Amino acid sequence: MTITDGYELVHPEYYAKNGPPYAVWDRLRAESPVHRCDVENVEPFWAITRQEEIKIISKTPELFLSEPGITLLPTDREIDREEGIGAMRVVINTDPPEHRDLRKVASPWFTPRSLKRMEAVIEQSAKQLVDDLAKEGESCETDLAMGMAVSHPLRVLCKAIGVPESQERDILELSNQLFAPDDEELGGGKTTSEDFRELGQRFLELFLPIVQDRRANPTDDLASIIANARIHGEEMGPMETLGYYLIVFNAGHDTTKNALAGGFSQLIQHPDEFAKIQQDPSKVPDAVEEMIRWASPVNYMKRTASRDLELSDTKIREGDALVMFYASGNRDESVFDDPYRFDVSRNPNRHLAFGYGEHFCMGAHFARRSMRAIVDQLARRVEEWELVGDPEWIQASFVVGLKHLPVRYRIRPA
Ligand code: HEM
Repeated sequence: MTITDGYELVHPEYYAKNGPPYAVWDRLRAESPVHRCDVENVEPFWAITRQEEIKIISKTPELFLSEPGITLLPTDREIDREEGIGAMRVVINTDPPEHRDLRKVASPWFTPRSLKRMEAVIEQSAKQLVDDLAKEGESCETDLAMGMAVSHPLRVLCKAIGVPESQERDILELSNQLFAPDDEELGGGKTTSEDFRELGQRFLELFLPIVQDRRANPTDDLASIIANARIHGEEMGPMETLGYYLIVFNAGHDTTKNALAGGFSQLIQHPDEFAKIQQDPSKVPDAVEEMIRWASPVNYMKRTASRDLELSDTKIREGDALVMFYASGNRDESVFDDPYRFDVSRNPNRHLAFGYGEHFCMGAHFARRSMRAIVDQLARRVEEWELVGDPEWIQASFVVGLKHLPVRYRIRPA
């Protein structure tokens, strides 16, 4: 009997009910690290569960293509490539040499040195949100997943790409619809081609005025860099420009939000670990890395084989889909001691949550820096916190995480 046909690995309903399928991944890593999956209503794919193969695939983009798509599509869900979201050219969906040209547009803005210009915004957002919680009074309740974990990356990213505060909520709604279309509460269950066309239109309406404004009045912000980008001396095309806004905002928001929510849940449930960063906030960067490993918000990325080949003694055919489960690689016992222990002092922490090789996350420093600001505030100011209900999972299998994290807390004023 096969370990799995893949259902637990990719079905949003499974994640909503159970969270990620760690036990299945454990068996796959041990017994079938390149495993054929064929689930009803999803294109057939190879599940890749160990770091070893994830790294080979990620650093060989000429054999393992991103262009045909990075997510698994339900076979009954058509994406229109002519119009809307499907027509946008996005750096994450391209291969060299085009990928390298597109990446160069924004990568200089994301270096640690260049990100210094965002520090004041990041710190202010973190402090403000923790101040707001502290203001609530002596002992209060909040949903950290719906509250602070959402608001902090949202505020910071909107500032980076020039979305005014008044439109933050609109953009959040669109992002939820894009990443959790199956989750009724977040994405409204909007999964038809017509829904996706409409979504593309709404993104266009949001981003177009920003592009026009930054072309007329360029500054040194990320919005201006994207709006005025040139590739080989030519103005970047409109689908590339909009695609860039889309990827920066969306890749940056949901992921950081889920890393925060998943990480908070662990800090709360492991008071001994939280105490370590309370006693010594210089440990916050290591703690943040562990939160990211633990949550692994980008559950997987897909690649498509460009020709017949062999991977760890398994024959792969041209056109086959390979799905790299980072969350599984981040529990790989050949890389991590005691991978199921949440350990804020873990160092080195060779997780793959930001991917590896050619498409390594452009926003990794940004995400780390944003998360550190808020975890630092909490380490210094939380007097008590505890769960007051079970955390609930989002109904999604691509960008995964907690939807609800009900908490009772007492926080010191600044
Ligand atoms: C904890 C938070 C984050 C996680 C876990 C994460 C994860 C990832 C992963 C796994 C990839 C690799 C995709 C692949 O190999 O195909 C990626 C790519 C990317 N990420 Fe992130 N990301 C995070 C935050 C951010 C932020 C804050 C931004 C921007 C503000 C961002 C922008 C991007 C972009 C532009 C790419 C595409 C890079 C390329 O194709 O060369 N990410 N991210």
